[in-house]
Amino acid sequence: MSRAENTGKFGQYGGQFVPEVLMPAVEELTDAHRRYVVENEDGFIDDFRKRLRNFGGRPTPLGRADNLSERYGHDVYLKREDLVHGGAHKLNNALGQALLAKYMGKDRVIAETGAGQHGTATAMACAYLGLDCEIYMGRTDINRQRPNVFRMRTHGADVNPVDVGSGTLKEATNEAMRDWATTVEDTHYVIGSVVGPHPFPTMVRDFQAVISEEAREQSREVIGSLPDAVVACAGGGSNTMGAFHHFVPDDAVSLYAVEAGGSALGVEEAESYAPNSASLGTGTVGVLHGARTKLLQTGEGQIVESHSVSAGLDYAGVGPELAYLVDEERVTPVNVDDDDALEAFHRLSREEGIIPALESSHALAYLEHADFDEDDAVVVNVSGRGDKDLDTVIEESAKRDLDIAPDMEVFR
Ligand SMILES: Cc1ncc(COP(=O)(O)O)c(C=O)c1O
Repeated sequence: MSRAENTGKFGQYGGQFVPEVLMPAVEELTDAHRRYVVENEDGFIDDFRKRLRNFGGRPTPLGRADNLSERYGHDVYLKREDLVHGGAHKLNNALGQALLAKYMGKDRVIAETGAGQHGTATAMACAYLGLDCEIYMGRTDINRQRPNVFRMRTHGADVNPVDVGSGTLKEATNEAMRDWATTVEDTHYVIGSVVGPHPFPTMVRDFQAVISEEAREQSREVIGSLPDAVVACAGGGSNTMGAFHHFVPDDAVSLYAVEAGGSALGVEEAESYAPNSASLGTGTVGVLHGARTKLLQTGEGQIVESHSVSAGLDYAGVGPELAYLVDEERVTPVNVDDDDALEAFHRLSREEGIIPALESSHALAYLEHADFDEDDAVVVNVSGRGDKDLDTVIEESAKRDLDIAPDMEVFR
């Protein structure tokens, strides 16, 4: 089967693997996605675009990174999603779905969050649109992402701690789906990436595709042609699909999805643990959160706990469309490890005056390993800004004694 838009299947991936109680919610949303997002009923898309501009601060610039270009010997351009309101691409999707909830007549919104970026974006969108907002967040994540918990509460959202399992994103998603099954009449579930049952992977991609729509247009002006390559980090894959979507038909543009290689590749079956989050490049086929996709799992199909120094990439699955594009050899999955990402964080901060999110630092780190030609123009999607990561970066850099990290003697 091909990359069909309306069935939710991308080859063998995707689908609607949900319990019967969730089917009414999923069917209602499938219908709303078709009417409002695909067919622009009631001018939904026009309204969304206006709000992305006025509230979200779009379009974001595409600019040449002069110092990185000199360092690598080819042109590097940065797509600045770190400049979207809230500091990451996450708002593109959260605003789209919160607005859709309003058009569907729902006054309550729920969301899962891991690092807290999607929860924060959803809380901001709900405050702006006057919707009630409840966020499910694992206890472990609440403790390690405190500033984002404060931000969500400041925007008036309730944060529901999830104490089961490892207390991270997987459990938070399970709880949000459980809530939705019994509250669908007045509630919309804003999923945070291109994952989950159809229509979520297609719908989230549609909202994030504004990144490549702008970048494609801007590259003609800024580069003078289409780029030779687009590079983006992949957790669930929403900034990746957003940055790639409008370039997919352009065969001459190479697409690189950079995953978190963590501290090592592979799955430690006995510990039910993967010291990485590289599901796209190294995972096997299974079902998680309503979709068939590539997963980090044991031979028995148990999803393992994943790892990345970057909380936003720390997920054992990946979007089904990305899995399909990798099988079709349209997208190349690559990975960089925790150390590479930390170095890239410091490099961009020092050499270009931009503090990138640790997630985005993975995409930037790939430039160190890639073998581009000197006349290549490479676009890197800077999915978010790194202020949220400063505590982690200071701690992890000190542990590793990284030469490139600034010393923090001043505090002693
Ligand atoms: C800045 C940033 N980039 C990337 C990601 C990864 O998500 P996705 O793969 O859906 O873009 C996150 C997730 O929290 C994020 O905050």
